[in-house]
Amino acid sequence: MSQLRALRRMASVLTTPLDPEDFFALVNPLSSARQLRGVVTRVERETADSTTIHFRPGRGWNAHEAGQWARIGVEIDGVRQWRSYSLSAAAGHDPAITVTAIGTVSTALARNTRVGDVLFLDVPQGDFVLPGHPRPLLMLTAGSGLTPVMSMIRTLVPRRPDADVVLVHCARTREDALFHDELLELADQFPGLTVKHWFTREHGTSAEDAGRRLDLSSTTDLEALCPDWRTRKAFACGPAELLDDAEALWEREGVDGTDDTGADLTIERFAPVLLPGTGGEGGVVVFEKSDKEVEAGGDVPLLDAGEGCGVVMPSGCRMGICRSCLTPLVAGKVRDLRTGEVHGDEGELIQTCVNAAAGPVHLDI
Ligand SMILES: Cc1cc2nc3c(=O)[nH]c(=O)nc-3n(C[C@H](O)[C@H](O)[C@H](O)COP(=O)(O)OP(=O)(O)OC[C@H]3O[C@@H](n4cnc5c(N)ncnc54)[C@H](O)[C@@H]3O)c2cc1C
Ligand code: FES
Repeated sequence: MSQLRALRRMASVLTTPLDPEDFFALVNPLSSARQLRGVVTRVERETADSTTIHFRPGRGWNAHEAGQWARIGVEIDGVRQWRSYSLSAAAGHDPAITVTAIGTVSTALARNTRVGDVLFLDVPQGDFVLPGHPRPLLMLTAGSGLTPVMSMIRTLVPRRPDADVVLVHCARTREDALFHDELLELADQFPGLTVKHWFTREHGTSAEDAGRRLDLSSTTDLEALCPDWRTRKAFACGPAELLDDAEALWEREGVDGTDDTGADLTIERFAPVLLPGTGGEGGVVVFEKSDKEVEAGGDVPLLDAGEGCGVVMPSGCRMGICRSCLTPLVAGKVRDLRTGEVHGDEGELIQTCVNAAAGPVHLDI
């Protein structure tokens, strides 16, 4: 270590005015101690819209637990943008993310990433992980919500002969279904895994009804797919409607972790739950240190408003969990888009991803 420090000191003399960190990063992009990075080692197209990106992380990365996610940063038009992605690889393997192209960052990642590209990273985090003790599991997923669960299945099923996992995965069509063939192969190979696909398009009942989603407003569909669902520890990840319905069903049926079987439901959301109609009148937002301002609608998170006018805003989950986006309020009031509550005192740290302007706002960034 002391040799490394000496080398860095020498480099500091030799590379001035370039910081030695920057110099080492030029030679080896994984060397930076300031910013965790990873080099893309493999890129696999999964479906028409989804791509798996495997990467080798540099110093400072912690091995992920199956089901966890990490913040991934990419530079788009010279601006570093961060989003969160579940790690789809099995625990103990080099990490990978599986990105579905739906917006600016995901489309850039899914369509433009090449082997050798450098990704900016933050360490894995999240509590959507396998239970400590083996239990019968039900995984309820749709679309890209399969990614954290895929990591769990890849980790658990081949290693534990006593695994008992039922996966119910919803996708529009077979072609849209992530990891379709691999899942069927795993289910063939390991009796502990049962895979039930629900292809929405195939559940249409008439010409007008071009597709029927898995219906969780009653227990009928679930009973048919997994008759003993009540006795299983359940994990769900997917679009908000699926998760809201699952939450309501588990609550209605009293399967809430308090029954004898200890069954319950753990949910991972990819987007925040915002209260409809919470947006107010909005206002001019001034980003004081960045010397920028923008007129922002009352339903636009301050984070989006800032990024929209070129301010480099700190962010993480973008859904009110991680608090990476905390920014001091200088003046004005903000509205919490999850609850509708208007708040704001001078110096208060604001979660910009879930708060919008409620009148003129000044932020210390
Ligand atoms: C913990 C966590 C794990 C995540 N894991 C994954 C993952 O494994 N794979 C993946 O593709 N994405 C994942 N996401 C979503 C991801 O972080 C981005 O939100 C998504 O890629 C859209 O970013 P964007 O810049 O392309 O679109 P933006 O322009 O930022 O957002 C477009 C809109 O899409 C909404 N949105 C976010 N995710 C979805 C979704 N899955 N389906 C429909 N709408 C959505 C956003 O709330 C936003 O309103 C995860 C998010 C979180 C918080
Ligand atoms: S970005 Fe995670 S709480 Fe705001």
